[in-house]
Amino acid sequence: MNNIISLKIDKKAFGDKEIFSNCKIDIKRGDFVTIYGESGIGKTTLLKMIGLIESFDGDYLFNRQPVSKKTIEKIRHKHFSYLFQEALLIPYLNVFDNIVLPLRNEKRKIDNSSITKLAKELNIEPLLNKKVTNLSGGEAIRVAIARALIADKDILVVDEPIGCLDEHNSKIVMNLIEKEHLKGKTIVMVSHSKEFEDMTNQIVMIKDKKIYAKENN
Ligand SMILES: Nc1ncnc2c1ncn2[C@@H]1O[C@H](COP(=O)(O)OP(=O)(O)O)[C@@H](O)[C@H]1O
Ligand SMILES: [Mg+2]
Repeated sequence: MNNIISLKIDKKAFGDKEIFSNCKIDIKRGDFVTIYGESGIGKTTLLKMIGLIESFDGDYLFNRQPVSKKTIEKIRHKHFSYLFQEALLIPYLNVFDNIVLPLRNEKRKIDNSSITKLAKELNIEPLLNKKVTNLSGGEAIRVAIARALIADKDILVVDEPIGCLDEHNSKIVMNLIEKEHLKGKTIVMVSHSKEFEDMTNQIVMIKDKKIYAKENN
């Protein structure tokens, strides 16, 4: 039993709109989980519940310990890095400063050459000194991906990372995510594309307020 994340969901609702009812999800260390489901079904909501951003009625165990109000913030910062659909870049910082934000926040060392290398891989190196307010959607997402990878946490939570990327950049981003997985990281990803399904080892389907999981080997 090496589940690092275990959610037993009695109920998740927004007002009187119920999204999940009596279901569960277990994620093991090093899993690559992909979440599928129709638009509006609750994929992003589940991702946020897993990422300790949305609360719900039920139990959340992290390393078999219940997460409490006292420990939630620490677990979030220590273990999770996020990439949501809205890139959530800081408008008054340039691209470079957005990417290194998690390092600055935690007073960690900034290694310029590794940031340049990652920016080159993501085809955003020429943008490093640019304002983020002038980026296209696809560029902004790649900057957000760089930031999530630089944060270098053991669980990467990503919401449709390739939704607005062309084929070339989709491959680059998915290869980087796979590389993180091969390094031993746990990946939890929402996707609508089956193209990269081979990379994942747990497929999760949301339907009728329930979660259906199956192994993918
Ligand atoms: N903060 C919120 N307040 C109210 N309703 C919400 C909120 N977040 C999501 N919803 C609703 O919950 C449902 C599931 O949303 P979401 O998880 O974003 O779906 P998906 O990611 O599968 O498209 C949708 O009907 C959405 O409108
Ligand atoms: Mg969504």
